Amino acid sequence: MLFTKNIVESFKIDPILTYTEILHQVLFSVSEIRVKKHIDKGKLLVRERIQYLLDRDSSFVELSPLAAYGMYENNHPSAGIITGLGYVSGNLVMIIANDATVKGGTYVKETIKKHLRALEIASNLSLPCIYLVDSGGIFLPRQAEVFADKEHFGRIFFLQSRLSAMSIPQIAIVMGSCTAGGAYIPAMSDEVIIVKNQGSIFLAGPPLVKAATGEETNTEDLGGAQVHAAISGVADYIANDDYDALDICKKIFDAMPSAVCSPLLNKFKSETNPSILDALVSLHENAALPMNNIIKAVCDENSFVPFKEQYGTTILTGMASIQGFKCGIIANNGILFSESALKAVHFIELCSHRKVPIIFLHNITGFMVGKEFEHKGIAKDGAKLVHAVANTNVPKITLIVGNSYGAGNYAMAGRAYNPDFLFIWPNAQIAVMGANQADFVMNSVNNKSSEAARNTIKDNYAKESQALYSTANLWDDGIILPSQSRDVLAFSLSAVSNKKINAPSFGIYRM
Ligand code: COA
Repeated sequence: MLFTKNIVESFKIDPILTYTEILHQVLFSVSEIRVKKHIDKGKLLVRERIQYLLDRDSSFVELSPLAAYGMYENNHPSAGIITGLGYVSGNLVMIIANDATVKGGTYVKETIKKHLRALEIASNLSLPCIYLVDSGGIFLPRQAEVFADKEHFGRIFFLQSRLSAMSIPQIAIVMGSCTAGGAYIPAMSDEVIIVKNQGSIFLAGPPLVKAATGEETNTEDLGGAQVHAAISGVADYIANDDYDALDICKKIFDAMPSAVCSPLLNKFKSETNPSILDALVSLHENAALPMNNIIKAVCDENSFVPFKEQYGTTILTGMASIQGFKCGIIANNGILFSESALKAVHFIELCSHRKVPIIFLHNITGFMVGKEFEHKGIAKDGAKLVHAVANTNVPKITLIVGNSYGAGNYAMAGRAYNPDFLFIWPNAQIAVMGANQADFVMNSVNNKSSEAARNTIKDNYAKESQALYSTANLWDDGIILPSQSRDVLAFSLSAVSNKKINAPSFGIYRM
């Protein structure tokens, strides 16, 4: 209780609102009229569908709930799609569910990014995918941002095909419309359930058919449940309502042989958490976060075994366990020097040979600069760390707890280094450099910068470095509160525990 005020203030991630307030605002931002229209059709709301589908004791780790925050006048909350991991009939699955109350469940750029990221995680971890489909396809006014490029709408069907070829089950439940491109989500799935008088699948809806061919038809006759279950064969099971459809999906998973689903040996159990971490963070500036205490609070009691404790002390390394899941920890504890980079490389090699997943606790302003350090080869030692992080085959889980600046972002398994999961605390900051440094550099290369131009740079850096900006743009898998870290890391370790890990293979380290 002592720290409550500080906690609330320190997680103010918008000039006025705290993280929790923003999340609440996003979860309840759809107009009552839209929600009523949806419910009046006999449909469950998207989060109700997910809750009913999941096993009673299952957690749901929702990914990127604040995607697209601050964009499109906030008319696409959560980017109109919910993605996340949970258990269905004892199997860990990836759920991808359209929110039809948000612009008919249509896809803007961030919706696609979120959908593709979920598929990427499913592919990396061999997780069956369940699609709760209720979408008008592409958000037509912005088609140029979402249609034709490599990581656009078409990539969804490409990845679905590849996942199916990897024997990763693809199950679609058609709970509303699947129009045009959207029709391919069920059509590319291994098994399709469709809800009677509610689900529809067609390449063009009745108005477009009339315009194209003059044919008069209606939704049900064109591509309703009866058509697809009895005539076209696009659907395999017909359901009476949302509940029935979700029950059929559960039965599909009950019947799935375990060799296909790879049920996890260690099932994660959520535990109630003391908010000691919230308090720790609220009392410090990012740069001064007490990393030893954070490690202690995140790991199982007395489980952290410091490696090279007295060497290269600006990075902390050691084996540990979190809720019984074994892991290696690499945590920043200041600026990276040659010694700390080399220590981390040594530790990554240990984890790679022992097949231990690595957790990166990321709070880094960058590598040390200056003549002495350049002469000692900080560039080649930093490169060794980047090389080791890029090439290790063990699962990587990144948690950005404070700063994430410059090459430090790369060396600590930032987004470009394929971490299996990347979460971020609300106080975190990500940028190529700090606002003042950027102002200084820009002013020195362009020494006639006006006061106004300098202020614009500083303002942009301040805004674009925020965790809120990162998460809105899907540079991470979601903001979590410090007090949720132990649960989320344990869940992540559980999710990666079946990943096939190849023997280590590193390239040429610059000596
Ligand atoms: N692009 C942009 N906006 C769309 C859209 C699309 N493809 N489909 C629906 N919307 C918007 C509507 O304009 C409306 O916006 P508003 O909230 O600002 O009023 C909102 O989504 C809901 O649409 P509405 O038609 O009122 O809802 P509904 O539940 O009756 O029907 C659909 C939903 C998706 C079945 C219906 O809107 C539809 O058929 N859309 C066209 C789908 C299409 O042809 N897509 C091709 C893309 S590949």
